[in-house]
Amino acid sequence: MSGGRIPRAFIDDLLARVDIVELIDSHVPLKKTGANYVARCPFHTEKTPSFSVNSNKQFFHCFGCGASGNAISFLMDFNHLDFVEAVEDLAAFAGLDVPRENASATLAQDKVDLQGLYDLMGRVAEFYVQQLRASAAGKHAVAYLKKRDVSGEAAKTFMLGYAPQDWQELAKRFNQRELLDAGLLGSNDNGGLYARFRHRVMFPIRDKRGRVIGFGGRVLDDSLPKYLNSPETPLFHKGREVYGLYELLKKNAKPPRILLVEGYMDVIALAQLGVDYAVAALGTATSQAHLELLFRYTSELVFCFDGDNAGREAIWKAMEAAFSVLQDGRQIRVMLLPPPHDPDSWVREQGVERFVGHMQDSQVLSDYFFGHLTQEYNLNEMEGRAQFVNKAKPYLARLPDSLFKEMMFAKLQELGRVDVAEKRVVPDRFPSRPPQKNSRPPLERQTLAMLVQNPGLLEVLEEKGVDWEGLDFKGADKFKSILKVMLAKKPINTGVLLEYYRDSVDEGIVKQLMSTKLEVPLAGIEAEFCGAWERLLEHAADVRFDRLLVKLQREGLSQQEKEAFQKLSMDRIRK
Ligand code: GTP
Ligand code: MN
Repeated sequence: MSGGRIPRAFIDDLLARVDIVELIDSHVPLKKTGANYVARCPFHTEKTPSFSVNSNKQFFHCFGCGASGNAISFLMDFNHLDFVEAVEDLAAFAGLDVPRENASATLAQDKVDLQGLYDLMGRVAEFYVQQLRASAAGKHAVAYLKKRDVSGEAAKTFMLGYAPQDWQELAKRFNQRELLDAGLLGSNDNGGLYARFRHRVMFPIRDKRGRVIGFGGRVLDDSLPKYLNSPETPLFHKGREVYGLYELLKKNAKPPRILLVEGYMDVIALAQLGVDYAVAALGTATSQAHLELLFRYTSELVFCFDGDNAGREAIWKAMEAAFSVLQDGRQIRVMLLPPPHDPDSWVREQGVERFVGHMQDSQVLSDYFFGHLTQEYNLNEMEGRAQFVNKAKPYLARLPDSLFKEMMFAKLQELGRVDVAEKRVVPDRFPSRPPQKNSRPPLERQTLAMLVQNPGLLEVLEEKGVDWEGLDFKGADKFKSILKVMLAKKPINTGVLLEYYRDSVDEGIVKQLMSTKLEVPLAGIEAEFCGAWERLLEHAADVRFDRLLVKLQREGLSQQEKEAFQKLSMDRIRK
C-alpha cells in the first residue's frame, strides 16, 4: 500500500488548526449555551441534549452515553472511519494535504496508481453491468439470475454484472497493465494473458465508501470452481473485507444487528426479502478483523451458518476470533440452519417473519459454547470434566476483562465442578474513590483534571518550578506519568493531548479526567490550581515527614535524610 506513517507533528498541527465546534456543527447542528455548544447526541437516542462540545478544550463529551473525544475521534465514530481515514477527512476539512513519513517521488507515484486502480475497478464493474443488460451472452446470466429468483432491483442494488467469455473484451477497453494490477487479468507461464473471470455472474465487492475493490464471480451451471474471487491486490484484502457492508450501511448506518452468512447469494436473497442487514465473509474463515469491523457498526452479530458439519466447524473457528472481541456491550448469537438449507433457501422457504423469529430465538454465544461442549464430553465422569475444562479454558481466557468473563469462568467452574477461578478480572478503575453524587472528586484528581482540561496551566507549574516528583498519595504514579507526558509534549489543548493516549491503556483515565466536572469558573482556574498544588505538596511533605519520623525512631536516618527531616520540621513550625 502507499505511503508511510502520518507524522505525529502533522496530527498535532491538524488538531490545533481545526475547530471542533465548526467540524461537529457541520454534521450535527450545535446550539451555544454558556461556554459549551450542545446538541442531541448523535451516538445514542435521546430527547434532551446531553452532547456537549467545548471549544477551548477541543473536546466533545456526552453525559448520557459517555462518548467523548477530539475531532479525529468524532469523525471515526460518526462516519465509521478508521484512524487514517479520519485524519485524511479532517485534513481535507482543514484544506491540508496529509504528508507521509519517507514520502518520496515513488510513493507519490504509488498513490496516483491506487486512485487509478479504484477508477478502473469502478469502470469495469459498470462494464460488467452493461454486459449483463445489453450483450447477447448476458441473456444467459439474466436467465440464471431469474432462475435463482434474484429481482431486478436486487441486481441493481448489488450492481450485479456479467463477465463475457472473451478476454479481449476487457483488453480492448482498459489498460492491460492496470488490469493485471487489479487482478482482472492473469498471465500464464508462457506470458500469455487471460481474463480471470469468464462467462460468470459478477458480484462487485465494495468497500464501505462504495468503491469497488474486488469481484466474486459465479459460474452459470454446475461446473467448477463454482466461485472465483479477486486475488489479493493493493485494493483488496480478503481477510479484512466483507461482502455487502456498503449496501447494508446505505440502508442503515447503525443497524441494531448484523447477520453474518457464508455466501454472496445469501446476502442478496436476504436483502431482497427485507433482511437487509446481512454480510458475508469472502470465502475465508471469520477473522478477528472481520468482527472488529462489524462491531464498529452494531452491538449484536448473528452467525447464520449452514447446520451441516462444515457450518458447525466454521462456527467453532469463528468462536476463536469472537471471544477476543467480546467486550461488555457486544453480543453474538449463533443461528444454525437445518440441513440442507442455507440462508438463501431457508428464508425463501420460511418467509421473512419466521426467519426473523428464528433469529431472535437463536442461542447466545455462551449458551451455544457450553451447550456444544457439554454434549461432547461426559460431565458425569471426572475424566470428561477435566477434558471439558481443558478445552474450554483457553477460549474463555481470550475474553477481554469484563463482568462477562467472570461469569463465563463461574459457569465453567460450576459445570466442571473444579476451582478454575482466575484472579479478579474486572480491572480497577482510576485509583480513587467511586464518584459520589454531590461531592467533589478528590483533590489530586481535581487538580489533574484542571490541568488536563487547561493545558495552559503547565506554564504555572514550570514558573513555580514545582517539585512534583515527591508527590505521594494513592495513585500518584499514574498522576505523575500523565503529568510527565504533558510537560514533555506541551499539548496546545485537550484534544491534542488525547491523541497521545489513543489506544493506550490510560486512554480511559485521560478521557475521564477530560470530562470530569470542574466546579471552578474559568476565570478563577489559575488561582484554584495554585491553591490545589500547595495543598498537594503540603500533603506530600506531611507524608514524607511521618515516614522519616517512623524511620528515625526505628533505625535512625542517613545524613541526607536528617537534613530533609530538619527542613521539613522547620517548614512545619513556620506554618
Ligand atoms: P450458491 O447458492 O450455490 O450460488 O452459493 P452460495 O452463495 O450459497 O455459496 P456457498 O454456500 O456455496 O459458498 C459460500 C461462499 O464460499 C461463497 O459465497 C464463496 O465466497 C465461497 N465459495 C464457494 N465455492 C467456492 C469455490 O469453488 N471457490 C472459491 N474460491 N470460493 C468458493
Ligand atoms: Mn446457496
